[in-house]
Amino acid sequence: MDSPVSIHRATLGDAAFFPDIERASGELFRQLEELAWIADDDVMAEAAHRPLIAAGTVWVARDEKAGVVGFLSAQRVGRVLHVWQMAVSPSHQRRGLGRALLRAAAVFARDADLEAITLTTFLEVPWNEPFYAGLGFTRIPEDALDDRLREVLAKEAQAGLPRERRCALSLNPGVLAD
Ligand SMILES: CC(C)(COP(=O)(O)OP(=O)(O)OC[C@H]1O[C@@H](n2cnc3c(N)ncnc32)[C@H](O)[C@@H]1OP(=O)(O)O)[C@@H](O)C(=O)NCCC(=O)NCCS
Repeated sequence: MDSPVSIHRATLGDAAFFPDIERASGELFRQLEELAWIADDDVMAEAAHRPLIAAGTVWVARDEKAGVVGFLSAQRVGRVLHVWQMAVSPSHQRRGLGRALLRAAAVFARDADLEAITLTTFLEVPWNEPFYAGLGFTRIPEDALDDRLREVLAKEAQAGLPRERRCALSLNPGVLAD
């Protein structure tokens, strides 16, 4: 039987597990011929997660037996919570943990009176934009992107992500938190 999994605020010690979880989760991209290379792409460094954990904007899914099996790493930027990365281990995908991690972030954002949760992701990839859209996120039209999100997308493109397949999404936290 599966052991219980619960969502918690991350501790600094959790960050060591994130790169391996992100790398393993990315195996999903091998299903897509033209994006299979994402599975071998760089992951977010442990050191980049640590200040976000210290700021209290990172959550983990913790399995009673297996330990940390998923994370959502976000940053507060003014009145927005921006999700830099989220990933769930292959052994635990499609059990609602991605949704639960986003809900924890939404509860935080709502209680902190933030206006929105934002992130950038791949269009049409089932576990990216459609997954978020199913939770209430909406796509920000290209001509409505603010400077911050425009820059995030531009930096991703410089790092090799195909710009025409990327988009920025936004959610009113109350939609998921309430
Ligand atoms: C995105 C991610 C964190 C979601 O985690 P999860 O725990 O599997 O999410 P949930 O179980 O809450 O919801 C999964 C939903 O996403 C979609 N989805 C996920 N994997 C899918 C797949 N292989 N094929 C089709 N749809 C998929 C489905 O809508 C699914 O709902 P369903 O299981 O009821 O059909 C996980 O897929 C992952 O780690 N992906 C690789 C890293 C990544 O792309 N991160 C996001 C960067 S923007």
